[in-house]
Amino acid sequence: MSDNQHIVWHEHHVSKEERSKMKNQKSCILWFSGLSGSGKSTIANAVESKLLELNKHTYLLDGDNIRMGLNKGLSFSDEDRIENIRRIGEVAKLFVDSGTIVLSAFISPFKEDRNSVRKLVENGEFIEVFIDTPIEVCEKRDPKGLYEKARNGEIPNFTGISSPYEVPETAEIVIQNDGISIEDASTMVIEYLKNHGYLNA
Ligand code: ADX
Repeated sequence: MSDNQHIVWHEHHVSKEERSKMKNQKSCILWFSGLSGSGKSTIANAVESKLLELNKHTYLLDGDNIRMGLNKGLSFSDEDRIENIRRIGEVAKLFVDSGTIVLSAFISPFKEDRNSVRKLVENGEFIEVFIDTPIEVCEKRDPKGLYEKARNGEIPNFTGISSPYEVPETAEIVIQNDGISIEDASTMVIEYLKNHGYLNA
């Protein structure tokens, strides 16, 4: 028998709806997915700044940062990437419960894992944002010099080179981040939130 057989879910007195209402917003997860160097973090940061200007309560969960703390020690094997996304999904769910608009920027290469996070929260609380940047463009940008290292065989399991990336097919927002400004890309996300009623309680 498992160790947690005597654990009982405790209902909070204050509800998600009350916490969201106080913040005049509907909490949700903006789940940015895309290749390394596709612009996920850059766009997510720009969206968060715009939300701050609109007096919205947000938190940004970012790949490299989370891997330095909560997910320290996880590798880039398929198994560890699955665990990486599972934990982030659970954290994002807690933030949604707190009434916050969560932005998450992780490669999250596997469709099944992204869908598992979608299923963790209620309908409409998971907004998949596919940053659709061709690998040639990401590789040319190579902001961290990782593609070069991956091509030289210095980084195993590198997404797009020696590890797969499964393209999102049902993303709510698709941004072709090649020839579009960060301003326009982030505005697309803000417009989606406005048009779907997330920015009012
Ligand atoms: S995920 O696949 O598990 O979702 P995550 O978003 O947390 O990845 O981390 C990706 C970041 O880690 C990349 O932006 C890059 O800076 C770095 N990185 C280091 N090794 C790899 C690798 N093998 N594949 C992809 N990204 C890597």
